[in-house]
Amino acid sequence: MCGIIGYLGDRQAYPILINGLKKLEYRGYDSSGIAIFCKNGYSLYKTKGKVDELEKKISSYKKKIKGTTGIGHTRWATHGVPNDLNAHPHVSNSSELIMIHNGIIENYHAIKVILLENGFTFKSKTDTEVLVNLIEYIKKENKLSLEEAVRISLNEIIGAYSIAIVDKSQPETIIIAKLGSPLALGINKKEFFIASDPIPFINYTKNAIYLKDGEMAILRKNKELDLRKIRDNYKLSPIINKLKINLKEIEKGEYKYFMLKEIYEQPKTISYTLRGRLIISDKIICVNGIEINKDIFINAKSITIVACGTSWHAALIGEYLLEQLARIPVEVEYASEFRYRNPIIDKNDLIIVISQSGETADTLAALKLAKKKGAFVFGICNVVGSSIARNVNAGIYTHAGPEIGVASTKAFTAQIAVLILLSLKLAKYRSTVNENKYHSLLNELTNIPKKMDNILKIDRHIHIIKNISKVFHNVNNFLYLGRGINFPVALEGALKLKEISYIHAEGYPAAEMKHGPIALVDENMPVVIIATKKGCYEKIIGNIQEIKARKGKIIAIVNEGDIQASIMSDYVIKIPEISEELSPLLTVIPLQLLAYQIACIRGKNVDQPRNLAKSVTVE
Ligand code: F6R
Repeated sequence: MCGIIGYLGDRQAYPILINGLKKLEYRGYDSSGIAIFCKNGYSLYKTKGKVDELEKKISSYKKKIKGTTGIGHTRWATHGVPNDLNAHPHVSNSSELIMIHNGIIENYHAIKVILLENGFTFKSKTDTEVLVNLIEYIKKENKLSLEEAVRISLNEIIGAYSIAIVDKSQPETIIIAKLGSPLALGINKKEFFIASDPIPFINYTKNAIYLKDGEMAILRKNKELDLRKIRDNYKLSPIINKLKINLKEIEKGEYKYFMLKEIYEQPKTISYTLRGRLIISDKIICVNGIEINKDIFINAKSITIVACGTSWHAALIGEYLLEQLARIPVEVEYASEFRYRNPIIDKNDLIIVISQSGETADTLAALKLAKKKGAFVFGICNVVGSSIARNVNAGIYTHAGPEIGVASTKAFTAQIAVLILLSLKLAKYRSTVNENKYHSLLNELTNIPKKMDNILKIDRHIHIIKNISKVFHNVNNFLYLGRGINFPVALEGALKLKEISYIHAEGYPAAEMKHGPIALVDENMPVVIIATKKGCYEKIIGNIQEIKARKGKIIAIVNEGDIQASIMSDYVIKIPEISEELSPLLTVIPLQLLAYQIACIRGKNVDQPRNLAKSVTVE
């Protein structure tokens, strides 16, 4: 997590850094800071809190900060609480080296002990302050140039990093390096832009280099880029990518929060996910990454899907789909558990990793482990060119566009849409689904955007959800229930509410209630229950009765025309009818809206919930 930014060129660095940091806040927002360099030295400002706080603090100094080289950081705390001292940039003991860092230095403690023995002192609790001092120590002890000291120090490091470091005596040089954490470099004639992702510099240049793990670059004003391997200083030729980001996609437009914009974008994003893949005129699904690896998919005896958080919920839906349609046994694993339990996999195994950001540290590590054991790894990713996308054997992009709200919404439905395509494609290969069912699912899939629109655009739906939110925004607990393919949707609904409103919420398979959680139900407990017609409708009716008998308040997601569940429920949200396999694409939308409305009434910052960050690049 954490966002890093930097600039070297002829423009004033401050506005580029401060605006860039605002665009990187999705990566962390508990403290931030900048350092701007000029011939006479540097100005350093840092503070606890969001980038707005930093901006306020700087404007209170009234003095204009001048300088055309600068680095900045927005933090998600790992080592040390969020406060001014632990905020980046960090300065070495001699005050000569100034550094920002995203990642974790795992062996920082051992290094700190050595540095303490050599007379170094530390102001903060961070691993970053240890690293900047290690570089200083190695530089001075061996009378090295900064780049050589950085390179040698990084070879001593265990962990993950993307860093930018400046020596105040050479304000026209920035050294950057990457291992594990993302780092993009924008190049525009004689200027360099550094950022954790290219969005902060897209206004200035469309030419970007994504540093690879184990690479460092020496950026000198008015000079060519000098790209090297950290291990042996081998000189590399940079590969420049042309960025294709549409600026509208990263603006809030008329919406108060990105999350709301992203919820409303879903009809469009699903059509992007299906575009060129679902060819309805020919009744076929075209997915290159599957077609060229057809044998691997056909011969797979089982599939393991690995992911975290919301992507893990999508994986559970994938389990249901692949087993139902393609009749392949599927296991779903949390990436963080999978990677540390020595999983039994080999070259005959098919692993699917799912990740919106493509940077989640645990998912990336699980992917690498599976590959090391010889398995074929297929990726489902949203961010093009991300680490996971680059490391898989084959994969498919979800094409949901940039997701900026910390709580994932449109990426989730896009992941489900991809899993439906994958399951149907495999079902066709393996002849496990009859033609009628196959064609009717394809037809229904093309109608999904319209049906999503129907839920989002009808005022009556929004009015009911706002009403429910007003009634329940002060409760302490919520239960979410679903069965079959909608059980993971219940988990996702509960996660959305927890994340942005800080109300405790749990998702359960509806029938599991009797085995314990029903003890929680009383007249104060709202229970959101997915009671759509297909699947175990009759059983769900029984579950509703059990909750009503204990005076729980039922908020039911039902199909238009529903009578039975609706009569029994306190609040009813109606959605269009659809086959069970596709239903999560619709049932999740009222749950996203409910979480959003409750969080707004509670006055929470929906896009930047406390303690969270969009991209979890630490384990
Ligand atoms: C929840 C959420 C997180 C992510 C999780 C995995 O709204 O966004 O739970 O789903 O951190 O992230 P990705 O999908 O980027 O690997």
